[in-house]
Amino acid sequence: MGYLTQLGAITTALLASATPSSGASASSSTAKNVICACRKLSNVLPKDIIYPGSANYTDEATDSYWDKRAALAPSCIVVPNSADEVATAVEAISSCNAPFAVRGGGHMNVVGSNNINNGVLIGLTKLNQVKVNADTVEVGPALTWYDVYAALEPYGRVAIGGRLKTIGVPGLTLIGGYHYFNNKYGFAMDNVDSYDVVLGNGTQVTATRSSHPDLFWALKGGGGNNFGVVTKLVLRTYPAPQVSTTIQAFNESAVPGFLAAVCDAAKLNSPDPIAAGMVATVSYNVSSGVTSASLLGVQEGVSNPPDQFANFSSISSFAINNVTNMKDWAGQFETPKQQFRIQFAHRTIKADAAVLTSLYESWKESLSEVLDVEGLGPTFVANVISPTSVRVGNNNGVGNIWGLPEEPLIIWQFSTSWSLARDDRRMQNWARTVVERLHAQNKRKGVASEYIYMGDAGDWQDAFAGMPKKNVARLKRVQAAYDPERVFTRLSTGGFKLT
Ligand SMILES: Cc1cc2nc3c(=O)[nH]c(=O)nc-3n(C[C@H](O)[C@H](O)[C@H](O)COP(=O)(O)OP(=O)(O)OC[C@H]3O[C@@H](n4cnc5c(N)ncnc54)[C@H](O)[C@@H]3O)c2cc1C
Ligand SMILES: *[C@@H]1O[C@H](CO)[C@@H](O)[C@H](O)[C@H]1NC(C)=O
Ligand SMILES: *[C@@H]1O[C@H](CO)[C@@H](O)[C@H](O)[C@H]1NC(C)=O
Ligand SMILES: *[C@@H]1O[C@H](CO)[C@@H](O)[C@H](O)[C@H]1NC(C)=O
Ligand SMILES: *[C@@H]1O[C@H](CO)[C@@H](O)[C@H](O)[C@H]1NC(C)=O
Ligand SMILES: *[C@@H]1O[C@H](CO)[C@@H](O)[C@H](O)[C@H]1NC(C)=O
Ligand SMILES: *[C@@H]1O[C@H](CO)[C@@H](O)[C@H](O)[C@H]1NC(C)=O
Repeated sequence: MGYLTQLGAITTALLASATPSSGASASSSTAKNVICACRKLSNVLPKDIIYPGSANYTDEATDSYWDKRAALAPSCIVVPNSADEVATAVEAISSCNAPFAVRGGGHMNVVGSNNINNGVLIGLTKLNQVKVNADTVEVGPALTWYDVYAALEPYGRVAIGGRLKTIGVPGLTLIGGYHYFNNKYGFAMDNVDSYDVVLGNGTQVTATRSSHPDLFWALKGGGGNNFGVVTKLVLRTYPAPQVSTTIQAFNESAVPGFLAAVCDAAKLNSPDPIAAGMVATVSYNVSSGVTSASLLGVQEGVSNPPDQFANFSSISSFAINNVTNMKDWAGQFETPKQQFRIQFAHRTIKADAAVLTSLYESWKESLSEVLDVEGLGPTFVANVISPTSVRVGNNNGVGNIWGLPEEPLIIWQFSTSWSLARDDRRMQNWARTVVERLHAQNKRKGVASEYIYMGDAGDWQDAFAGMPKKNVARLKRVQAAYDPERVFTRLSTGGFKLT
């Protein structure tokens, strides 16, 4: 059998690579544990296992990742076909004490969060089931948000997920989830009715409001590979047969007005909001030297132009308004994988137009430090958290791990791409230094929030440090109950970990 030959080759390679550093017994025992796991997986799931050199290896280890940096070299990859096979895989891996990583949509640009060198990768590629019910949809973790919106479109319904086309369902849902309609329906995590989870010992549980309620709560924001592998999500859906959309562009001189309109949106606090939200970015084009802002706005209903964006429309230099559906809208915004190396870094402020504008100005100034970096693509992103979006979780009897106060917040983010591996450390240092310096200033001025969103954070940011202490303590109790052997923190160490 081909896979046995491959296993022989990988075993030899692993042992060879373990030997030179043989002073470090930990690393050679790790290598043995990985061999143990890959061998066991080859026995129990022979059709699911992939080794370096096989045709599918590049698909799973490289092409499934958005950030070029996230493409690593797992020793073997298991691609289960069902929840039972995920359980078999987790059991095999944990019984060998082998390091592993789990990948859903592969968009998290934190190296090691979703892939691994010298370990086992669980690729969820084949768990792509989707079943539409009257007011929910059951989805597997292989789906993108476009898949979900496309499945719901014939029924005139929408789920609360990602704003662009190809972001993965599981990562986004388990870490929170910013959608256009947060202001009315809360975050993606607030709209999950049920999670099927494979625990560290291979046991499968379904967590709902009434069954395993502590785990159910913990997965609302703390889920990214901290408690188990989620094999199915049941998401609530809402009627939205049509949406009114707008794409707008702004010249540099209009950026302060644009950022003020973003802050206006964060402050809206109607008891009965119209579902509406945006993607708001400012970009600097290094080759032309031109700064411009852009808005992608979506509102429920058929108001054309969408009236919730009037404060933007009055200053934009260009607009395309349309009445369409969520599938066609999201379908326009592909985020192709393996395009560039890219660093996110962000912090949060209380919504204040003057502060946000000064952060944008500081971002622009600080670009002078990295303008020589090949392929530089700098973007300043503002994400809105409105009081009404937080209220949904606060009032639904379950809550979520963020425990945010109902106040208008803005997440201000640097999203910076570049071309070459030689600049990785420089770009990370730059983003970290500038963002943390500006955050320290905001703290002194009393305008900062410590909230951190795992979807927009840099590798060094500790998202759990920004959550209420009592929620973190509760998460640790859930972890002790559901992962007593700490499989998901001891053996899977990448990304945002509850440690
Ligand atoms: C271009 C772009 C646009 C984005 N837009 C949005 C947006 O509109 N709204 C928003 O909220 N966020 C957005 N994000 C951030 C996004 O939510 C995160 O990158 C998220 O992790 C993507 O989910 P994924 O399944 O693709 O992630 P992956 O990289 O596959 O996984 C992320 C983390 O979750 C874990 N994980 C994945 N699947 C499972 C599972 N089934 N069980 C347990 N753990 C699992 C992984 O191990 C990893 O630690 C965007 C990111 C990018 C790059
Ligand atoms: C490898 O890729 C082929 C073609 O896409 C697919 O049919 C097969 O199931 C894949 N194998 C694994 C183990 O993922
Ligand atoms: C538009 O701006 C005004 C003035 O700042 C504000 O009162 C209003 O709430 C804003 N409207 C929207 C929809 O953001
Ligand atoms: C940046 O400017 C150059 C030169 O004017 C142009 O060719 C390119 O399309 C611009 N890039 C983007 C992303 O707009
Ligand atoms: C914005 O810039 C474009 C291109 O330079 C120009 O045609 C347009 O008049 C400008 N609009 C405003 C409102 O300044
Ligand atoms: C407007 O929406 C319709 C329906 O989805 C679509 O066919 C059309 O291409 C859209 N027009 C623009 C300019 O986006
Ligand atoms: C697996 O772990 C869970 C959570 O700790 C526990 O309830 C269950 O009994 C364990 N199952 C087995 C077979 O040990």
